[in-house]
Amino acid sequence: MIEPVQLGTVRDRVWGSLTAALDERDHPMRTPVVATVDEHGSPRARVVVLRAVEPDAATLEFHTDTRSPKFASLRERPSLAWLFYDPRAMLQVRAEGTATLHTDDAVADASWTSTSLASRVPYMASVAPGRVVESAADGVHVRDEEHSRQGRPFFCAVRSVIRRLDVLQLHPDGHRRVEVVEGGARWLAP
Ligand SMILES: Cc1cc2nc3c(=O)[nH]c(=O)nc-3n(C[C@H](O)[C@H](O)[C@H](O)COP(=O)(O)O)c2cc1C
Repeated sequence: MIEPVQLGTVRDRVWGSLTAALDERDHPMRTPVVATVDEHGSPRARVVVLRAVEPDAATLEFHTDTRSPKFASLRERPSLAWLFYDPRAMLQVRAEGTATLHTDDAVADASWTSTSLASRVPYMASVAPGRVVESAADGVHVRDEEHSRQGRPFFCAVRSVIRRLDVLQLHPDGHRRVEVVEGGARWLAP
């Protein structure tokens, strides 16, 4: 039986699920979609790995390459939207916020330090993400901590403060939808 969302507990339930997703490799909310707006005003969406969650500060974080198109988009227009779906709870969570880009501050250093060697591989690629290349694999391997530092200049922790949650649950007894903002939560027509 799917536990229906309740107005009084929905915020804690959502942030609890997001926090749980950090530690559970197979948690469906661990790999959300993040949408941004590019320099032409067009929507761009892609899957990322959720890297940090701070319920009290209402922040979510992912990591990306400073050479990627999304980095340029966010620098220009810091608005972003996260999209999560947990099929076990039939729960869609849309989180809207504003991004701050951390490349060479204490936030970036802490995030880089917490990153596994395997996760650093993309930052060591010699070619920027999205560029045309001759062959499929670039064959980058991270040997050790020292070697992985070559990727550090291209590492960015994208931290976003979430101002609004739109939570939709498909439920056999009736679908439920809640908007959560700083002032509280209220029901919306699903
Ligand atoms: C499961 C999965 C996880 C991913 N995680 C990330 C991530 O954490 N950060 C990231 O920049 N790209 C990640 N990607 C790649 C992005 O989806 C995207 O293809 C790439 O970042 C280029 O996006 P852009 O052209 O919009 O900048 C992931 C892709 C998949 C399939």
